[in-house]
Amino acid sequence: MRYPMLGLLVALTFPVAAHAEGDAAAGEKAFAPCKACHAFGKNGVGPNLTGVVGRKAASEEGYHYSDALKASGITWDEANLHAWLKNPKAKVPGTKMIFAGYPDDKKIDDLIAYLATKK
Ligand code: HEC
Repeated sequence: MRYPMLGLLVALTFPVAAHAEGDAAAGEKAFAPCKACHAFGKNGVGPNLTGVVGRKAASEEGYHYSDALKASGITWDEANLHAWLKNPKAKVPGTKMIFAGYPDDKKIDDLIAYLATKK
């Protein structure tokens, strides 16, 4: 009995994290539009995304971030990444990332699973 109750508690407390069972292979496809601006291992139009899961926002050396992202105080855990990829401008008003966001939660979870493989 104790474990199902614990699972319920976790699901209620961290709804996004509990559902973040993403498929990294599908996430690689969802990353296609991001490639216009992002790479792994180097900065481009957007910052280097190697190791971004768990990283403090606006902390990549040598990249010129917006003041908005620098002031956000965000750490890119799954919940914050999810909200960001759903609607960057709603999550961080004033960001210079020009991306409308993905409406599809499953696609976002897959994308985060893919990003998590890039350490
Ligand atoms: C048109 C270019 C563009 C596209 C497309 C784009 N990004 Fe970005 N991204 C940026 C820029 C520019 C920033 C820096 C934002 C700032 O400083 O406000 C950024 C920042 C980020 C950050 C924060 C990184 C950090 O170091 O804090 C993440 C995570 C991110 N992008 C992920 C993605 C993903 C995943 C996609 C695809 C779904 C994507 N981006 C699509 C340009 C883009």
